[in-house]
This record gives sequence, C-alpha cells and structure tokens, in this order.
Amino acid sequence: MSSLSRGGFASRIGFILAAAGSAVGLGNIWKFPYEAGKNGGAAFLVVYVLLTFLFCYPIMVGEIAIGRRAGKDVYGSYKLLGGKKWGPLGLLGILCGIMILSFYNVVAGWAFGYFLEISFGNLLSEPNYAEFFGTYVNNFWDNMFFSVGFMAITAFIVAKGVKQGIEAAAKIMMPALLLILLLLIGYSMTLPNAMAGISFYLLPDFSKITLDTLYPAMGHAFFSLSLGMGALITYGSYVGKNQNIMTAAFTITIMDMSVAFLAGLMIFPLIFSQGVAPDSGPALVFVVLPAIFSAFGPILGKIVGGSFFLLLCFAALTSTISLLEVPVAYYVDERNLPRKRVTWLVAAVIFIAGLPSMLSQGVVPAFNKLSFYHDKTALDFVAEVFSEVCLPLGGCLMCLFIVLQWGQQNMSKEIYEGNPDYEGSFLEKYINFTIRYVCPILLGLFSVLIVLDKLFQVKLF
Ligand code: PHE
Repeated sequence: MSSLSRGGFASRIGFILAAAGSAVGLGNIWKFPYEAGKNGGAAFLVVYVLLTFLFCYPIMVGEIAIGRRAGKDVYGSYKLLGGKKWGPLGLLGILCGIMILSFYNVVAGWAFGYFLEISFGNLLSEPNYAEFFGTYVNNFWDNMFFSVGFMAITAFIVAKGVKQGIEAAAKIMMPALLLILLLLIGYSMTLPNAMAGISFYLLPDFSKITLDTLYPAMGHAFFSLSLGMGALITYGSYVGKNQNIMTAAFTITIMDMSVAFLAGLMIFPLIFSQGVAPDSGPALVFVVLPAIFSAFGPILGKIVGGSFFLLLCFAALTSTISLLEVPVAYYVDERNLPRKRVTWLVAAVIFIAGLPSMLSQGVVPAFNKLSFYHDKTALDFVAEVFSEVCLPLGGCLMCLFIVLQWGQQNMSKEIYEGNPDYEGSFLEKYINFTIRYVCPILLGLFSVLIVLDKLFQVKLF
C-alpha cells in the first residue's frame, strides 16, 4: 500500500541492507564486545543468540508486518489498524526515536571525532588515554562540532528520501562496513597472543550464566535489533508486497548477530595482544583500543585505528538514519509536510534535546549528577529510560496490539503475501504462539524488573 508519493525501497536487498543497517550500530561494535567481555565471553553469546531467536525474531516479523500492512509511519500504522486509542503507542515509539537519537548522536560524535583525530595522526602519542578521553568528552566545542557534524550527515541522507537517501547509503555503507571488519579481523588474528583472545571469546564459561547475564543480554538484544519503537514498522511501510517478510527478518537478524560476533573476533585478539583485561566496560572502545593502536606505531596505528573508527562511524550512521526516519515519517505522513524541510527541523530539535547528554560528561555539573536519578549522568538517564525501559515495554505492547486488536489472523495474512508457504507451516504456529504468550508475558515481566532496577534501584534477582 505504500504509495509512490511517500517513497519506498526500490529493491529487496535495499530494504534488507537498510534494516540491517539500522540494527548494526554502536550496539554491536561498542557495546556487544564489552558486555561479552564482562559476562563470560561465549556464554553471553549463547544466551544472546537464544534470546534473539526466541523473542526478537517474532517481534521483528510483527513490526514489519504491521508497517507493510498499514503503509504508514508508526503512529499512523497503529491508528489505522487499531483505531485512535492505539495512537499513543505510536507516539511513544516516536518519542523513543527522538530521545535515543539525542544521546546516540553524542556517542556517534565521539566516534567521528576519534576517526578524524586518528586519521590526522593526532591521537597516537597520548601518554594517558583515559585522561585524554575524559578531557575530550569535556571539551564543549569539540563535542559541539562533531555532534553537529554527525547529525548533519544523518539529516542530509534522510532528507534525500527512502530510495535515494536511506537505501543508497545502506548499499554503500553496509558492504564497506563488512569489508573493513573482515580486514581488521584478518589483521588482528596475526597479532601475538591472538589465540588467547579467541579462546577467551569462544570457549563459553557457563558458570557465568545467571539471571545477571540474562538481564543485559535481553536488553541488549532488543536495542541491537532496533526493536520496540517502530523503526521497523516505519521501514516496513516502504516494503513491497512481493517481499518475503520471514526471510527478510531472518536475514536482518543473522546479519546483526554476525556483525556483533565478528566485532568480538576483531576486538578480543587486539585486547589480548596487549595484555589488557577483557572486561574494561564502556571505555573499551575509546580508551583501551586507541592505546593499542598507538602501540602499532604511527603508520600502522593510523591505518588500523582509522579503519576501526571509520567502521564505527558507518555502523552508527546507518542507525541514526533509521532513528531520524521515525519522527520524519510521522510529519510527512500525518502532517503532509515536505520531507526536506521537516528532516532538518526535526534533526535540529533532536540535537537540542541531546545537549544535556552532551554536556553531562562534566561540562555542566548539574547534568553530570542528576539528583532525581540516583546521581547518574543525563546521558545515562536518557539511555536507560528510553532504550532499556521503553523498548521492551514497546515490544510487549506491540504483541498485545496484535493479539487483542489487530488479530493474529490478519498478521498471518499479511505475511502470506510474498510467502504463500507460510500458511499452515510450523513457523506460523511458532510465531503465533510466541507473539501470543511467550513475548508479552516475558517482556512484561522483564519490563517490570527493569523499571524496578533502573528507576527505583530495586533488584529482585
Ligand atoms: N540497533 C542500533 C544499535 O545496535 C540502535 C538502534 C536502536 C537503532 C533503536 C534504531 C532503533 O546500535
């Protein structure tokens, strides 16, 4: 139903690459390796893969089906298929898109800044990388420059539209990303001690699998696959009826997991080659890796480090594009506003909404310790509330929407288009069962636990 005037993906692979681009992001290359490093290496990977197939795959199928059926932005889709009372669920998705992009762009800006610094050779002779990072994120003008830059590149692409902007960018950046990743893996495998890194990563320590592992793995899987806020409802609305939703969702999921897996294969040998502990947390990418690159010497350091941060920028950019597209599609579809103008306007507003996060690393002390949020930073607040809490909640409510309002029969009918074999298949039963029982119950439970943990600091497990 996607009308020509609102645009659409020109090819099947275009949609798959754009959606995989949304999924593959900082989550895969920045967050996944450090979560795995902290939570038992391959043990985390195993839990992550199981959760992804159990919960995330059916939710992704549901999102794409809703979007393609309605042919509208996330708010318009819920309203069209479910009536006015479901509109607020769409608005929650748009709010999440805005708020997640507001902090995501700040971190992407750091990656962009590091890419430029390292490519010009500025970053390779620092005596203390932790100190450098601290000063860097505290420097108002640097931050300003790089975050404005990153947001402007994102807006430039989104303003060009679905086919010429989003699809074209994904078709270039996704293969480039994969190529850089493979080259970096090839290189890091040759380093001394690489095998120790690989075996840390690939030999699972199942004793580390507790509820504490489940928790981050679950939240991470949701964030990493861009689920729960309608990014894939929006992208799904640009997909043709001949596309097979089941195989598209499967390919997107596999691509996302593969990039996370490969990022680990690249990073652990690097870390072990320099004898660094694998569980250094969020600082891994911005503190530990630059130190490692600098040990390679000025030329190799520039090439390997520059490639790594370029990879990180590409990954982030295909995600920021999808985050911006969610509110932009709303204004284009619901308010009939011209895409170009609306894109730049929305991007500017989101940039402003991101200022507290940007200034929360020390520039403005009030944003560094929010008294109403357990003295955490504004960036933590926005990230935790809008991604860790709201995304699983949005996923749970989407299941309720399908089961109680739209009807699972209608969802199945939408999937039959482009995939007639789905009718009566085992997969159909599996998807229907998980969307009806497993996902809403477990995601609902998970949402309660995460609200208690993040907002009230009460850990039940
Ligand atoms: N999936 C992206 C990542 O892994 C983040 C994202 C979340 C993008 C939600 C869009 C929507 O980095």
